[in-house]
Amino acid sequence: MAKLAPQLVIALDFQTGREALDLAARVQGLAPWVKVGLELFVAEGPGIVRELKAMGFQVFVDLKFLDIPNTVRGAVRSAVKSGAGMLNIHALGGTDMARVAVAARDEAVSELGLKTRPLLLAVTVLTSMACANGKDPDNPILQGREAAQVVLELAQASHAAGLDGVVCSAQEAARIKQACGPQFLCLTPGIRIPNPVASPDDQRRVMTPEAAVAAGSDFLVVGRPITRAADPVSAARDILHRMGGSMAQAQPVRN
Ligand code: C5P
Repeated sequence: MAKLAPQLVIALDFQTGREALDLAARVQGLAPWVKVGLELFVAEGPGIVRELKAMGFQVFVDLKFLDIPNTVRGAVRSAVKSGAGMLNIHALGGTDMARVAVAARDEAVSELGLKTRPLLLAVTVLTSMACANGKDPDNPILQGREAAQVVLELAQASHAAGLDGVVCSAQEAARIKQACGPQFLCLTPGIRIPNPVASPDDQRRVMTPEAAVAAGSDFLVVGRPITRAADPVSAARDILHRMGGSMAQAQPVRN
């Protein structure tokens, strides 16, 4: 199967549905995907997913489940029922939890009679972790190891458990594709435009949109560089331009 053009996912990290929907209305027709993360989901619940879908977006429900398998099973089923086009668990939850999550996604899809399976991804190592040399001795997950190596091992375990792909830094995407195959999806936050004035915020393992696409990223997640820009529409257009495409090139999958 040919690789689809990389797609832009705008992270709607807002405290209220009103702010999220206002931003979404401004980028309607530009980005195929929006992301509802912990901040917005905790404030608004699954209704916000339905509202964004009604506006024509595909919605990534980014709640990073990590719990006992039975609880993750229920959470995955609820996320699929909310209308998520993509959802995620933590790879650190282990193989049993990952396999149960895949089965729960598949059960919910057949119960609801969905034509398309929502994509199920595993978060490897957060893009806010690890310092410039790739090591962070105080980090209990990395334990002094190279982030890239830990990410690769978690990606291979996620691939073996039947997940569709992983959340990683674009810095790791090429190695993951090499190890797990081109169909194994890489969704990459930590996207930043080089700017001597702006800081990368709390992100550490960052890459530009151009480099992320070149590394093989399938989905680029961008939040503050768009949502906190003086002109979010121009910022989104600039990122799409740097990605070398537009929404017209993207081929969204619909439930
Ligand atoms: O504002 P910024 O572009 O840094 O937003 C990145 C988004 O991606 C945030 O919503 C964050 O929660 C999410 N994310 C991340 N790193 C991960 C997984 C998710 O930054 N590994």
